[in-house]
Amino acid sequence: MSADAVAYARENSARFLEELKDLLRIPSVSTLPEHKRDVEAAAQWVADELRRIGMKHVEVIHGDGHPLVYADWLHAEGKPTVLCYAHYDVQPPDPLDEWVSPPFEPTERNGNLYARGAVDDKGQLYIEVKALESLLKSHGGKLPLNVRVLFEGEEEVGGEQIAKFVREHPERLEADFALVCDTELFAPELPTLCVGLRGMIYTELEVRGAKSDLHSGVYGGAAPNPFVALAQIIAGLKDRDGKILIPGFYDDVQVPSADELKAWRSLPFDEEEYRKSEMGAPELVGEKDYSVLERTWARPTLDVHGIAGGFTGAGAKTVIPAKATAKISMRLVPHMTPETAFRQYREYVEKIRPAGVTVGVRLIHSGEPIVVGTDNPYIGAATRALKTVWGKDTVFIRSGGSIPIVGDFEKHLKIPSVMMGFGLPDDGLHAPNEKFHIANFHRGIESVIRFFEEAGSQ
Ligand code: BES
Ligand code: MN
Ligand code: MN
Repeated sequence: MSADAVAYARENSARFLEELKDLLRIPSVSTLPEHKRDVEAAAQWVADELRRIGMKHVEVIHGDGHPLVYADWLHAEGKPTVLCYAHYDVQPPDPLDEWVSPPFEPTERNGNLYARGAVDDKGQLYIEVKALESLLKSHGGKLPLNVRVLFEGEEEVGGEQIAKFVREHPERLEADFALVCDTELFAPELPTLCVGLRGMIYTELEVRGAKSDLHSGVYGGAAPNPFVALAQIIAGLKDRDGKILIPGFYDDVQVPSADELKAWRSLPFDEEEYRKSEMGAPELVGEKDYSVLERTWARPTLDVHGIAGGFTGAGAKTVIPAKATAKISMRLVPHMTPETAFRQYREYVEKIRPAGVTVGVRLIHSGEPIVVGTDNPYIGAATRALKTVWGKDTVFIRSGGSIPIVGDFEKHLKIPSVMMGFGLPDDGLHAPNEKFHIANFHRGIESVIRFFEEAGSQ
């Protein structure tokens, strides 16, 4: 059966790619209110496609935020059920002037497809859809296992819709395992399953001084400056060796097992290559006692994303601004919890607040860290499928990124997730010139076809 489906996917590969370009042309940027209609359009586009390929009960589910897309096909009696997850929203495309071709005009160059969302995550969402189409169309409208599909449009903003749906309607999502296509290969040509993700808390810190902006000559020397205070607070959060200074922050950090650490040491990782080619930074930073993979996969971190307020125009303006804000996030690892981390952070910020200002800390969104179980038959099915398509044994990695719903799948649906992703380390997620290696799009489709076949014959 999967041989027919793979043949179908190969015969239709050019069309699949053209369709993906259509989806990529819809600027479904979930964080920007002016794109709300585009996010809706992308949901409808995906729903139409699911209907067209023969999925049942296709529904665009509306709530407070951006919609969910649900579909199912549940006629493989006695077979397991997979819950297919991906997201159709994308990050904002800025800085626009750094794109070689416009972010929402998908363009092929050197075997890659360039567009915002190409790999994160529309290309990978479409891998799931085209694997389902290939199986349905090459086998008289039947699938080798039961399938539910749940796609979201607020992953990139940590939106609540999907978590709420999972909490409130576990019966509509009853499944044996989830397939999550939203991660990366560890290296080109190396089949990879991701088994751990960091969690996060994303916050906004607001510092206020005087009741309004002040002349910096008339009042400077006596007036509190919120920017200086903000800089002092930020400098107090983390030392120069990358250690977070929030009391108790590391208390619940779980050390990876000796086996896991050993496996990470045998991965093909060249630190200098990573620094120079992938990152392009003068030096790597962080906790010296931990390897780079440990630092990014198994240690918490704290980063500042932006500082706003005051005068940033051309020229000069002598002002002491009344307020300054910063977006600050922390990545969490097992067994930290967003609640404890946020409380510790809030209390510490208040404690190190300089004289003359007030501070406010707001939680924008949060997600739990997760390490998924590998002791289930679906991980075995996945590695067999990947071996068939890629001709190599699978490596198991963690990732420093976050996909908040994976924790909820485990907690509320009690199912493991198979995180099978096909991005490359240099695909430029969230950055200008995001791309998807086109060969990986097609091999991804074949991998999911084979995986469903394997999982269905358990
Ligand atoms: N697909 C990424 C997460 C990811 C990237 C996992 C690379 C594994 C490898 C996802 O779309 C993402 O960017 N998530 C956000 C989370 C969020 C709550 C805003 C992230 O990690 O910043
Ligand atoms: Mn993603
Ligand atoms: Mn993302």
